Amino acid sequence: MTTPSNDDEQLMHPMLNIGIRAARAAGNVITRSMDRVDTLQIDQKGRNDFVSEVDKAAETEIINVLLKAYPAHSVLGEESGLVGAADAEYQWIVDPLDGTTNFLHGYPYFSVSIALLHKKRIDQAVVYNPVSQELFTASRGDGAWLNSKRLRVSKTNRLEKALLGTGFPYRTGQDLDFYQRTLRHYTEKSGGIRRAGSAALDLAAVAAGRLDGVWLVGLNAWDVAAGALIVREAGGLLNDFSGGDNWMDGGEVLAGTPKVHHEMLQVMKPLIASRNKLAAK
Ligand code: IPD
Ligand code: CA
Ligand code: CA
Repeated sequence: MTTPSNDDEQLMHPMLNIGIRAARAAGNVITRSMDRVDTLQIDQKGRNDFVSEVDKAAETEIINVLLKAYPAHSVLGEESGLVGAADAEYQWIVDPLDGTTNFLHGYPYFSVSIALLHKKRIDQAVVYNPVSQELFTASRGDGAWLNSKRLRVSKTNRLEKALLGTGFPYRTGQDLDFYQRTLRHYTEKSGGIRRAGSAALDLAAVAAGRLDGVWLVGLNAWDVAAGALIVREAGGLLNDFSGGDNWMDGGEVLAGTPKVHHEMLQVMKPLIASRNKLAAK
């Protein structure tokens, strides 16, 4: 069953609809708490790694909406881990608040990220910015959307003209030296670099043509699952840093317009080769 939903006649998959409902519910939890951040209970998971009661309440809200509609599905949430059967045919992957550091500082750039995997393939995706109320969605094979507008990546075809997004290491155990080499090369070869603080929104920005490419490190599946489908359905390319498919659990993602993605991978190639060489020593 499909229901027409907007001006461009996007036919919304019922499971996407539920994902959107869950994202909006979480968005309400987040925005209600925005002006009382200093009163929130905040725990530290590691260096520069915080979780607030809002992350947890937003995730609870999402899980309730999803499992009420689909009790046989499972949910992998950043804060709750796996809820439901490990071998469920449908699994939701949830980051209730992507950009917690921004949120805790009142820097209004964060999102709710929800993806649905069917037999381990990403089928539906929602990235919601509750401040701007921008809702980025995608269904596999059916395109990507920003609210009611169909998304295409930008036409930028040269790295030297491209505006790139990135996410850099700021937690313990991350390879800052390698990252700095990538930053140096992309700084020299691109048209500019931004670091906004929400990986899911960075990917959505590529889909919307606001950024022409991104390279991101230190990621988990919940940071990228939804954004990846949105980029691909908008005509962008997305891989791990070697151009391979180990991006969902590999922690590193490179995405962009087809030509910018290609040039970014060319720049990355020798850096990966020397990292591999160092690791083999
Ligand atoms: C983080 C953000 C950040 C990225 C980190 C993520 P969180 O997610 O997406 O932009 O650089 O790697 O962990 O912790 O705010 O959900
Ligand atoms: Ca995140
Ligand atoms: Ca998070």
